[in-house]
Amino acid sequence: MRRVLVPGSFDPVHNGHIEIIERASRLFDEVLIAAVYNPTKTGSLFDMQERRDMLFEALEHLPNVTFDFFSGLLVDFAAAHEVSAIVKGLRAVSDFETELQMAQMNERLTGIATLFIPTTSKHSFLASRLLVEVARYGGDVSTMVPEGVNRRLKEKFA
Ligand code: PNS
Repeated sequence: MRRVLVPGSFDPVHNGHIEIIERASRLFDEVLIAAVYNPTKTGSLFDMQERRDMLFEALEHLPNVTFDFFSGLLVDFAAAHEVSAIVKGLRAVSDFETELQMAQMNERLTGIATLFIPTTSKHSFLASRLLVEVARYGGDVSTMVPEGVNRRLKEKFA
């Protein structure tokens, strides 16, 4: 049984995340999505329950996807949940440098491998931070996020 871990902030989840998770769910037996919980971090838009609800609604068509939260080191969470690998999406070369560094650090810490899945070009510009900024000033992000996320963004910034 191959279980992989897809970690992230998901504040909020967007269509680029969905694409990576859908592809991971076709490649592996089980996909565990882990949203990072950092109690000291300020500036988050959605609380953890909202993030989980948005992920759950957007991914309920995938029977082999489960959700959890974590704080602390990703590799400790990965070890506790017996995952075979961490899966990350790569949007552009600019992501690669940071992601490679994290992958190598995580490999050094516990030996866990990170697998990269490139996003398709139609999603390569998507970033939660940018989407929130656009939505905050009334821009239309409805084609870039799941329906439930679009609705909640509108409610937040009404
Ligand atoms: O969606 P994001 O913000 O790009 O996700 C980043 C995340 C949560 C995957 C990364 O910050 C992380 O792994 N945080 C957990 C803390 C940790 O393990 N840090 C060491 C990384 S080498």
